[in-house]
Amino acid sequence: MLRYLYPMRTFLIVAGDVKKPNPMTADWVTPLSFNPQLVGIAIGKSRYTRRLIEEQGDFVIAVPTIELLRDVWLAGSVSGARENKVERMSLTFIKSKKVKAPSIKECAANIECRVVNSFETGDHIFFVGEIVNVTASDAFKNDTPDIANYKFVMHVGRGPNFTYQSDELIKL
Ligand SMILES: Cc1cc2nc3c(=O)[nH]c(=O)nc-3n(C[C@H](O)[C@H](O)[C@H](O)COP(=O)(O)O)c2cc1C
Repeated sequence: MLRYLYPMRTFLIVAGDVKKPNPMTADWVTPLSFNPQLVGIAIGKSRYTRRLIEEQGDFVIAVPTIELLRDVWLAGSVSGARENKVERMSLTFIKSKKVKAPSIKECAANIECRVVNSFETGDHIFFVGEIVNVTASDAFKNDTPDIANYKFVMHVGRGPNFTYQSDELIKL
């Protein structure tokens, strides 16, 4: 039944450190609070990313664009527990400013989060992260998406089916 919430925005959750990064694709990402700035991610209990986040207490939400789709699919279909998926990717992992988890140079934004809470939600762990730093590319102008120059990724569901938004900005 969750399929009826789709299409959903698709993100990369980066855990680990710059020497051994592990990116994982995630649709289940949601803002939670303005003050403090909190964001939530639902991570399946069996994911390698879950273990890394629990060990280190931080993660980065990297915002991919449609050009990175091949790597987005790879990050979401291979587990870092089984192989170093990063070796098959063309992404560049760079140091973040405030957390150990790295950022991705090619992404439109990198949202650095420290875990402030986590709890079980059925077969997932819901991690609540406090945003401690953000870096963004020119896909954003004045902290706002420049919709004409920014093709963010949306997951249609049922496997590798994706789309991106129209570049029409509707102003009411
Ligand atoms: C488009 C897409 C969205 C996904 N969204 C989530 C999600 O929100 N939460 C989750 O736990 N897994 C999600 N997955 C599955 C994980 O990305 C996948 O199991 C991944 O291989 C886990 O990597 P890891 O074991 O290295 O952490 C998604 C996969 C894809 C392709």
